[in-house]
Amino acid sequence: MTEDLKGLALDAIATSAAADDPDYPRFHVVPPVGRLNDPNGLLVDGATYHAFYQFSPFHPRRKLVYWGHSSSTDLLHWNHHGPTIVPDSSYDLSGAYSGNAIVLESRELEGAPVQAPYQLFYTGNLKDPVTDERTASQCLVTSSDLRDFTKWPGNPLIPANAEGYTAHYRDPQVFRDPDRPGEYRMLIGVQRVNETGAAALYRSRDLVSWEFEGELTFPGAGGAFSSFGYMWECPGLVRVTDEDTGEEWDVLIWCPQGITPQREGFENIFPCVYTVGHLKGTELRDTDGTFHEVDRGFEFYAPQVFARRPSEPGPVLLTAWAGNASEDDQPSIQSGQWVHALSLPRALSLKNGQLIQRPAADLPHDAGQPALVGTPLDSGQYEPAELHGHRSWQLRLEAEPDRTSGAWGVRIGTDRSHVDIILDGGALRVDRSTSRYTQHGAVRTVTLPEGCASVLEIVHDRSLTEVFVGDGALAFTMRSFVDPDSSGARLLAGGVLTLKSGRVRTFT
Ligand code: FRU
Repeated sequence: MTEDLKGLALDAIATSAAADDPDYPRFHVVPPVGRLNDPNGLLVDGATYHAFYQFSPFHPRRKLVYWGHSSSTDLLHWNHHGPTIVPDSSYDLSGAYSGNAIVLESRELEGAPVQAPYQLFYTGNLKDPVTDERTASQCLVTSSDLRDFTKWPGNPLIPANAEGYTAHYRDPQVFRDPDRPGEYRMLIGVQRVNETGAAALYRSRDLVSWEFEGELTFPGAGGAFSSFGYMWECPGLVRVTDEDTGEEWDVLIWCPQGITPQREGFENIFPCVYTVGHLKGTELRDTDGTFHEVDRGFEFYAPQVFARRPSEPGPVLLTAWAGNASEDDQPSIQSGQWVHALSLPRALSLKNGQLIQRPAADLPHDAGQPALVGTPLDSGQYEPAELHGHRSWQLRLEAEPDRTSGAWGVRIGTDRSHVDIILDGGALRVDRSTSRYTQHGAVRTVTLPEGCASVLEIVHDRSLTEVFVGDGALAFTMRSFVDPDSSGARLLAGGVLTLKSGRVRTFT
């Protein structure tokens, strides 16, 4: 008898006590039970945001990846829904792997083979139980209401194991071709048989028949990306506007596994990088091979942006897995049988070819301007009373540069169990060594981008912290398991600190 995989997942969700765990974030996407990894199929539908994600409901007992589903109208309060893609078809029995979504306008549906506005693309993963040999094919799931989801009967769209590549061929991103209206492209992360990573492009007019176009190439990059790691996971091309010039760029964001550039950064097992250019055919032009990490934190991976209907434009919102690689041994596994979370969506723009990332949502309750603004503080710790007792909050501080001397920053939690976030000269220093989770590192120092303003913004939600420095010029995402009885935060001043402005919000 075949297993009722959907029923088993629903049972696991129904009996879960994860939300009672004191580390369970309150305004982030978190699995209702078990494990979450990459965000998938992010989309905006009118006033509602939908986040799907890699979801293993039986973790750590059994590794089987579904797509989970949450929705929200404010990017802060998320409702769990039942699993969307259940790995119960011959082509996805070993897991419904990552992919994205497209939301179709009614005119795009005219004559389309599948009459459904919501189309989700994913990789069907299959491992031979005897040989462990992997096959990966690209598949389609559609929905007319985001409640019922139907696997396309003609799956897979793109059969497994293309010539010249290994079975590491996954994570489709489908997008409209701005240069050829009515046509769609699909970008897939691949591994060549010589064990180097690349991204393959496909083209379609109807979203079900796809033609291989070739690899994405970088004519101006001087070979920088031709042998760049052994596998590219989760590649995505995103159109982003430069704040100063208004020019639009195509930003390639991807996770090349196995690169070790000889410069600061890249401390994570797998990095997530971007390069900026213009996509013409299969070429990403106007990139000279320069690349940067998207986020410098300990836990950040596999981001993607929310898809929108062209008739419902809005900011480019990016969300990532606040995790990295498969290290799941976090405190929450013991205490609540859940692990990992998605980052808060952040709005993207560009300045001088560099990504700017700002939190896309403000917490609902405004605790106002911290009382400490304007008073020169002298070497010590100062508690903004507004954060007293809170474990989910947002804080934005701007120092008066010519009236501030020495290092300054924020201590989340108490002296006994805390995470310190310090701006010291031209660097950000993060220290979580007294917290309960340091597996990907305890202390990290990051050089700030040139001309970075002394603005420090922190989004903290129980066990997850996102830091933005210089009004979005640098982002740093991490898990921050301070003790549950270690609440609030303190301002730290190494010398004199004068705050020019400040804002505190708490999630109540
Ligand atoms: C990235 C990744 C993807 C894959 C998925 C499987 O974290 O390895 O390449 O589709 O996770 O869960």
